[in-house]
Amino acid sequence: TGGTLTFDIQKNPNPATASEREALLQNPGFGRIFTDHMVTIRYSQDRGWHSAKIEPRKALALDPATVVLHYAQEIFEGMKAYHLPDGGAALFRPSANARRFQNSAERLAMPRLPEELFVESVRELVKIEREWIPTAEGASLYLRPFLIGTEVALGTKPSAEYIYCVIASPVASFFKGGGSAVTLWVSENFTRAAPGGTGAAKCGGNYAASLAALAEGQREGCDQVVFLDAVEKRWIEELGGMNVFFVFDDGSLQTPPLTGTILPGITRDSLIKLGRDMGLTVREEPYSIEQWQADAESGRLRESFACGTAAVVTPIGKVKGRKHSFTIGDGNAGATTQRLKAALTDIQFGRAPDKNEWLDRL
Ligand code: COI
Repeated sequence: TGGTLTFDIQKNPNPATASEREALLQNPGFGRIFTDHMVTIRYSQDRGWHSAKIEPRKALALDPATVVLHYAQEIFEGMKAYHLPDGGAALFRPSANARRFQNSAERLAMPRLPEELFVESVRELVKIEREWIPTAEGASLYLRPFLIGTEVALGTKPSAEYIYCVIASPVASFFKGGGSAVTLWVSENFTRAAPGGTGAAKCGGNYAASLAALAEGQREGCDQVVFLDAVEKRWIEELGGMNVFFVFDDGSLQTPPLTGTILPGITRDSLIKLGRDMGLTVREEPYSIEQWQADAESGRLRESFACGTAAVVTPIGKVKGRKHSFTIGDGNAGATTQRLKAALTDIQFGRAPDKNEWLDRL
């Protein structure tokens, strides 16, 4: 457990120099550059969690018969460390990521990393990599905890051994267009997750399954894909790696409910709370693709946006598909989208009071 494992810290003897780091931080993009260290913790059936380390970032050496390479026994998380105006740094709701990581582990028949150990691992890594937290407006240090089955075996059974790892990557905007409105492709040939499947778990397989649909959308000139439910193929579920919200002319907000086939986003949950704090009505109710088009055309629907740790809050300007084509509002970010984005990021970057105690300062 968290209290009994201490991290063995091996400093990287050849870290990036200050000037190399500054150059990389000029234009980080998303997930292309990485810091000098990583966390690893091992798990085996007989020893439990052990050998917690912070060590120089390096390749993982895996036997070609390693379980994760064949049966995709893998889960991950996405979270960010933010630079604060007083020079400090903070994580945003890390215990929520820790709990979701445990739920994902359960679904993939993997061991549950104790919540304190998850949070401590991320905090220790960020403390060592403080200088890598970008200070530019809107930029942050993206943290990617993940767990892989490392037993060497081709039988289909849960791995008896695992490696938990955390890497860190300074990031700016997830989408190439920065914060400007994106165009979505309605996936009709592919669905993301069926009832009873792994849709609510944050496992690599869900993202692998979204890529053909995303590629189809990109061929049609779209930035992202929107998935419909696997049963009726009409209810909006989520995008390729983020949740979705709708804003109506009466000021109310709506987002698809957590039925077990969509990812329970921490950004989604935070925006529901912030919307309600602003006095807005927020519904977690199904919304169909036909209704989305009809409401966008009648003007009842005013705005739509995507949200996630990586995407933050990104306005949706247009929706296209084989049977659909419509523009939302004037095709740009709407006022409520901008207000919610500001409310969220003002807390994350320490510019507004943190009434819900979501920040975890280092
Ligand atoms: C995140 O938002 O952190 C995710 O894990 C989504 C991924 C598409 C980058």
